[in-house]
Amino acid sequence: MNLNVTINKDSHSRSVDEFFFAGDARHDRWRELNSAAHRWAADGRSKEGARERVQKILAELSPMEEFWAYPGPALMRTLREAFDSQNAAVFARLAQKVGRSLLSGNYRTDSADWDALLEASLQPTEALPPDVQDATGGKPYFEVLIVTPNDPARWEEGRRQLYRLRRPDDPFLYHVVQVGSFEDAALAAVLNGDLQAVVIYDGFDFETHHDAPLLRAHLSRYGLDDVFGDGAALGVPLARAIKNWRPELDIYLITDRSVEELAGTEEVSGIRRIFYDVEEALEIHLSIMDGVNDRYRTPYFSNLKTYAQRPMGTFHALPIARGKSVFRSNWIRDMGHFYGTNIFLAESSATTGGLDSLLEPTNNIKLAQERTAKAFGAQRAYFATNGTSTSNKIVVQGLCAPGDIVIVDRNCHKSHHYGFVLSGAQPYYVEAFPLTEFSMYGGVPMRTIKKALLDLRAEGKLDRVKLIDMTNCTFDGHMYNPRRLMEECLAIKPDLAFIWDEAWFGFAYFSPLHRKRCAMGAAKALSEKYRDPAYRKAYEKHRAEIGSLDDSDPKLIDMHLLPDPDKVRIRVYQTNSTHKSMSAFRQGSMILIWDEDFHHVEGTFQEAFLAHTSTSPNLQLIASLDVARRQMELEGYELTMRMTGLAVELRSRINTHPVISKYFRVATPEQMIPAEFRKSGIQDYDPPRTNWRDVTTAWEEDEFALDPTRITLLCGAAGFDGTQFKGLLADRFDVQINKTSRNSILVQININNTRADAAHLIKCLNELAHEIENRKRREDDDAREAFAARVRSLTIDVPDLPNFSAFHDAFRDNAASATSEGHMRAAFFKAYDEKACEYVKLSSPEIDERLKNGPPLVSANFVIPYPPGFPIMVPGQVIQPDTITFMRKLDVKEIHGYQAARGIKLLKPDALKAQDHRSR
Ligand SMILES: Cc1ncc(COP(=O)(O)O)c(C=O)c1O
Repeated sequence: MNLNVTINKDSHSRSVDEFFFAGDARHDRWRELNSAAHRWAADGRSKEGARERVQKILAELSPMEEFWAYPGPALMRTLREAFDSQNAAVFARLAQKVGRSLLSGNYRTDSADWDALLEASLQPTEALPPDVQDATGGKPYFEVLIVTPNDPARWEEGRRQLYRLRRPDDPFLYHVVQVGSFEDAALAAVLNGDLQAVVIYDGFDFETHHDAPLLRAHLSRYGLDDVFGDGAALGVPLARAIKNWRPELDIYLITDRSVEELAGTEEVSGIRRIFYDVEEALEIHLSIMDGVNDRYRTPYFSNLKTYAQRPMGTFHALPIARGKSVFRSNWIRDMGHFYGTNIFLAESSATTGGLDSLLEPTNNIKLAQERTAKAFGAQRAYFATNGTSTSNKIVVQGLCAPGDIVIVDRNCHKSHHYGFVLSGAQPYYVEAFPLTEFSMYGGVPMRTIKKALLDLRAEGKLDRVKLIDMTNCTFDGHMYNPRRLMEECLAIKPDLAFIWDEAWFGFAYFSPLHRKRCAMGAAKALSEKYRDPAYRKAYEKHRAEIGSLDDSDPKLIDMHLLPDPDKVRIRVYQTNSTHKSMSAFRQGSMILIWDEDFHHVEGTFQEAFLAHTSTSPNLQLIASLDVARRQMELEGYELTMRMTGLAVELRSRINTHPVISKYFRVATPEQMIPAEFRKSGIQDYDPPRTNWRDVTTAWEEDEFALDPTRITLLCGAAGFDGTQFKGLLADRFDVQINKTSRNSILVQININNTRADAAHLIKCLNELAHEIENRKRREDDDAREAFAARVRSLTIDVPDLPNFSAFHDAFRDNAASATSEGHMRAAFFKAYDEKACEYVKLSSPEIDERLKNGPPLVSANFVIPYPPGFPIMVPGQVIQPDTITFMRKLDVKEIHGYQAARGIKLLKPDALKAQDHRSR
């Protein structure tokens, strides 16, 4: 059994979203039960039919409910008794109460919701914004899974024993879920997002006693129907399986094996504490609280809150601190009203007195960064307060010196390109596969990257290659297979470092499926793989196979290369815009590091960090990074699974809607990833064409997979270009979307999105689609032909995407070299000399003349159109006809680095003679 990977039986399911988040589907079933129960209670005539319907839903729900503490055995028993005694009114009232409480989450704070006889409060407090909530609030609530071999008849007593230990000063409130088998425990861990801790009493069985069809479907979907073993001690394997799926959970093992011996083994490294047999229940209770508190603690944010409450006299250069310049002002008092008091009380330039310095953290920022590293599976973490734009420059400059070579996706964010200018590293641009039809790029194929490395090796330049620099996932959702890519690159150069720009993908570590495709998930997996003795054997076999191949043999490109376990170093840097996918304020970003050689670069990295970090970093940003980490560690699993389920549902709703899908479609994995990078053959996330075994296999093995939460909504068939459609959605429907391409918009599903948001979007699309239908019905032939022509121009007559051409010879060490790296920094600074530059208008005949007969057009700067947002020219690049054609066809307003009135900025031919790159 492998909870993390395989789905063992075909599990065609109508409700695919349940794979990601069963919670919403559960709420739907309670809603169904509620309405069936009301019909039963109200409708005398069809009473029998209504009762049967209730019975059917209840039979489906009951076994599922054993994985959650609420409503729990007592309320479920009352519900069943009401059913058995034919008391439809009591049944309906109770079903309604439970359904509502589940939906609102009110059971977490209101004890009345747990009592069949008490009335629940009408207004669930959780749904309100904090400033209008009851100030006393409730303690944070969670659930604890107890896996026990005990007779279920004794479970209630066990629960009572733990609940008796509750004290008023406990920081949290928890309820208990008990199960009696490996399968049930694993399923509870998968399904129940409220779980924070698992207490495992060894000696339980493997198989579930349930035989409910819905449960069986779940078991099959997660690969839990594969019999694991024979009643041997399953505690440690269960702990490992759960940790694999949800690394954030605290696991406690109670066993009668020799705990002292067990504690010293690698097997139990993921277990927080081991107890011997039946030790003190109080110890277990306190350990559970302590474990959750560990994740709840926010060293920096908590100190900032304390700091804000102290009466401070401030004599530093920050008049806004404490709010006095605002609250006493005649003219800007509304600012105080708008932002509230705390933000001013929490403003400071202090780095002492309970605060810390971001530039040289020794106290609570240091602690917050350490916690972040642990939570995100990294060895260390740095906070950045000027977005990932800064984080990328820090990493590039921290690891590269002038003359080093970086193999980089030409479409990466501009911060990387500027990083090369700053560091003097030479970019070796590699191209992503184009998706011309949608005017966007995907990711860079592994063959392209391997070829670049092998060519550099052939020219004796491998020692200068310091970094591989890729964007994962891309803006449009292309997820690399970082494990495989890094593995093959490390086989060619075992000490290569990687920067994965995961600006959009910071959440990924908290979703068990996305984790396979993120930098830190891959770093951990590779590090474990190369320590395994089985790998050494595989490597020896592999060496024997490639032993006779010449270094330049093209077969190397297609073979799966393996690195030498004695030489390989895992050196992975991830940057993420925490503000883009988690609850951090704008510009909050992180650098996560897993670098086994960090001690060699720590000094230069630190230097780069200081070079780019403000000496007045915003305290609220730092605090929000600390809090974002807390949230992800405590509810990241539930949030990421739910958002993925929501995205899958939205995709399916749009593409199967009879009218919407005529004009708007969500691009599928099949459309977004060419077949050669999608060996699994997966086409979509939708049954019946795909089942979840296919999806997990695809995410495990394919070279690229599509993140379902990045929804490319094609709007060309509706006659809208991306920019126009974005404007329409904002102006008419109050819908803000992410980015656009020529014929699409990007709808991003995030941890904040709800089913109501999805419903709103579907409603807008439905309205627009019907308007187009009605208009087409009324229009004459000319108007219809005009519409068809517009659609053609948006969907068929799309401009080809220009590739990077080459650096001009003046910026290359050796014009005859087969490798394409260049001195971009020298070209960049050449343009500081006004006399070395000229402007030529885009439409002028001179351009066509020079493209034909020379002298070559050489760009003096970056030219970056938005959309698509990648540089079609970089300093020192020779401009080719395809770039000019693309620019002439571009109908976007924003083109950074280009002023239409002046023309394209070029380096003059006579400025391109002898270049002395060393002086730059
Ligand atoms: C791939 C990528 N990297 C980096 C950035 C910059 O991140 P930030 O906005 O946090 O500075 C962006 C911004 O959109 C991006 O798309």
